[in-house]
Amino acid sequence: MPESQESDTFAALEKREWAKADLAQSYAQVFAKAADMVVPSLVEGVRAGPDTKALDLCCGHGNVTTGLVRAGARVTGLDFSPAMLEMARAAVPEARFVEGDAMALRFDDESFDAVTIGFGMPHVPDPPKVVAEARRVLRPGGRLAFSVWCGPEVDTALGYVFGAIEQYGASSIALPPGPGANDYADPDLAFPVLEKAGFAHCRQLAVASNWQVNDPGAPYDFFLEGTARGGALLRPQPPDNAAAIRAAVVSKVLEKHGPGPKWNVPIPALVTVAVAV
Ligand SMILES: C[S@@+](CC[C@H](N)C(=O)[O-])C[C@H]1O[C@@H](n2cnc3c(N)ncnc32)[C@H](O)[C@@H]1O
Repeated sequence: MPESQESDTFAALEKREWAKADLAQSYAQVFAKAADMVVPSLVEGVRAGPDTKALDLCCGHGNVTTGLVRAGARVTGLDFSPAMLEMARAAVPEARFVEGDAMALRFDDESFDAVTIGFGMPHVPDPPKVVAEARRVLRPGGRLAFSVWCGPEVDTALGYVFGAIEQYGASSIALPPGPGANDYADPDLAFPVLEKAGFAHCRQLAVASNWQVNDPGAPYDFFLEGTARGGALLRPQPPDNAAAIRAAVVSKVLEKHGPGPKWNVPIPALVTVAVAV
């Protein structure tokens, strides 16, 4: 079966890719080193503490769940990938984990004090539906915090990789239509969606997350092996295109961050916080 089919929908691609155990493990062990740096901002954003009943959507391998549990919260993690949930259950036995879709939650109205979404927004086909579901399950005064990688308008490994794909990728390889990877980093897009769903006091904070690498091509490898969207664009590339994309990423890292032998490659994030009214 080819990596991505012409009839593929964005939803089907996301579900299929994240279900792969090797992709999930690569994300957890390597790519998420940067995502882990964003966890404290999500935990503080929802003001998690001993009295907090928290829901961690798109919980993946449980990094945000761990942060919430350490703050004393009682946490339910939800994800649709059994491979991710297996890692999460092993990592955070104190939390409860549920397999499910962030766009259709099976929880009662107003049953949580806090909802976190660590890098889930770019992966759901209908982000406003997730925001509406988060609002429905939050009590008034409860808090939502979600993280999204900054887009290529700032210095970011994400820009190096997607810029290289644009320049050197085979034109026949494209993703099915879906939300933009960085849409919800834009407050002009995110805040009106939040306000329409019943949130107020929206604010954003920046996190200077990064990867420490000793290979300037590592950002290419991380996207190739540990992401659904980037991987679906990279894995089917013919060898010449793949080599050109990796070489372009190497050049960019050397140009921006010097000759090495170690590099601190930025992949900054934005955390958006809002209060349910
Ligand atoms: C980029 S990972 C983020 C993992 C973790 N929250 C973090 O901050 O590193 C995205 C996660 O969202 C999950 N996911 C994507 N779409 C989903 C959906 N519609 N419902 C539930 N989980 C979803 C994937 O399985 C994956 O575990």
